[in-house]
Amino acid sequence: MLEITNLSKTFKIKSREIKAVKPYDLTINKGEVVAFIGPNGAGKTTSIKMLCGLVTPTTGNICLCDMTISKRSKYLSQLGAVLEGARNIYWRLNPFENMEVFCRMRGLAPKVYLDRIDHYIKLLDLEKYKTIECRYLSRGNQQKVAIACILALNAEVLLLDEPTLGLDIEMSHRMMEIISGEKSKDRIIIVTTHDMEFIEQTVDRVVAFKDGNVFFKSTPTEIISKFGNGDNRLSTAYLKAIKEETL
Ligand SMILES: Nc1ncnc2c1ncn2[C@@H]1O[C@H](COP(=O)(O)OP(=O)(O)O)[C@@H](O)[C@H]1O
Ligand SMILES: [Mg+2]
Repeated sequence: MLEITNLSKTFKIKSREIKAVKPYDLTINKGEVVAFIGPNGAGKTTSIKMLCGLVTPTTGNICLCDMTISKRSKYLSQLGAVLEGARNIYWRLNPFENMEVFCRMRGLAPKVYLDRIDHYIKLLDLEKYKTIECRYLSRGNQQKVAIACILALNAEVLLLDEPTLGLDIEMSHRMMEIISGEKSKDRIIIVTTHDMEFIEQTVDRVVAFKDGNVFFKSTPTEIISKFGNGDNRLSTAYLKAIKEETL
């Protein structure tokens, strides 16, 4: 179980304060996929960065099965994260080498990770690129390598900030299947995305951010039944919910 309590972040730039994330609580159980949604600048990435230890929270605590983030190395050893649009991988290494480096940094032995690397290279359709330096790959394939790297770690918690960014339709669908597969291994998965179809098909719970506030935590079905206009579409319901900004 991942327990987030009173988590917030205020950035200070000179005399200006930016309340990027206002205090919120959230508990996520094993085997649950949660989507962070909301407009640009709402606080999703800052939340993800706090969860992976890259940004120090202003208030609050994060606790994974009794391991608090203050005991960094133990907590972080259970975590895999792909950040939004960032350089998540080494440019001059090929996909295989990237995955191997990530596994070795985690202290995994080749007999543990080699089969896993092989499995995820196949699953993400990276076989024909596996010996090409990542800087020469397309944006979408670089994204797939970043995702493959953290999947190979077999981490308990996966944080995926806009994982479908740059992926073609077929690969976005594959991502849904992959995330569902990881969910069935009892992982805790947090995804930020603007892809409503992805959310409808893959996600158990939606946590919506706006201007740093978490203004609802509901299942996609609850959002549709409360805000939908009868067309049964999450995108319509979400747009209405975000306008009204309460639940
Ligand atoms: N390092 C930083 N310094 C100052 N402000 C930041 C920093 N990172 C994010 N912000 C601000 O925090 C707010 C939330 O940003 P972010 O979490 O990236 O939003 P989202 O991922 O929902 O688009 C924005 O106003 C953004 O400009
Ligand atoms: Mg973001």
